[in-house]
Amino acid sequence: MRMESGTKIPAHVAIIMDGNGRWAAAQGKPRSWGHAQGMESIRACIEVAKDAGVGYLTFYTFSTENWGRPESEVSALMDLLCEGIEKETPELARQGVRMVVIGSRGALSDKVRAHIEAIERETAAGDALTVVLAVNYSSRSEITRAAQRIAARALTGDLAPVMVTEQALSDELYTAGIPDPDLLIRTGGEQRLSNFLLWQAAYAELLFSPVMWPDFGEKEFCEALAEYARRERRFGKIDN
Ligand code: IPE
Ligand code: IPE
Ligand code: MG
Repeated sequence: MRMESGTKIPAHVAIIMDGNGRWAAAQGKPRSWGHAQGMESIRACIEVAKDAGVGYLTFYTFSTENWGRPESEVSALMDLLCEGIEKETPELARQGVRMVVIGSRGALSDKVRAHIEAIERETAAGDALTVVLAVNYSSRSEITRAAQRIAARALTGDLAPVMVTEQALSDELYTAGIPDPDLLIRTGGEQRLSNFLLWQAAYAELLFSPVMWPDFGEKEFCEALAEYARRERRFGKIDN
């Protein structure tokens, strides 16, 4: 499926990939099966985004709250992340997809950290699309960390209080240099942000889809882009 020419394309789409576990359970399968199938949806969305001319595509891959799941599920998710990176890196690099990972790396295993560093290094030259993976990500932690970094600079005299602008704070987030998301999609039927991009999504168009993530493919992503194109963004003004 192709987007019609002339369609308004978002520069940045962020996705909360939700519903893997319920999707698997509905088929009597383990939750990890749903996570594995979800990889196909990631692949499909990357393809569509690249063809449509989306500049940035962010996936909420693992939240800091997800550590609260059973150890077996956490390790299945981490293993899938490493396997996906190993399997997909050469093709992503070939297609000019740059991979960037945001979130706190401290709590990740050496193996996961090494995989993350490898995919960032090996795809660094990509200029067709930037895919951002949020791994061990929490928006509140990100904002708190930014405040700490600004406070540290203020203490050394590097930054006066009047220089603590919205831009200065944005520049200390993991997403520094990445435009704010224009479209934020959550699959799986829940209508909440679950600690994802709270600062960056201030003016994002929100789209909540009832479709479980493993069923969210090319068609559903194209429909989401078409829905975005129909939205009128006013940014507080009364016309555009
Ligand atoms: C999203 O699917 C994947 C992650 C949170 C890592 P879930 O695992 O949350 O699936 P549901 O919401 O329980 O169905
Ligand atoms: C959000 O999904 C986190 C990711 C998609 C990585 P959750 O399934 O963890 O969110 P809640 O628990 O329903 O809010
Ligand atoms: Mg969920």
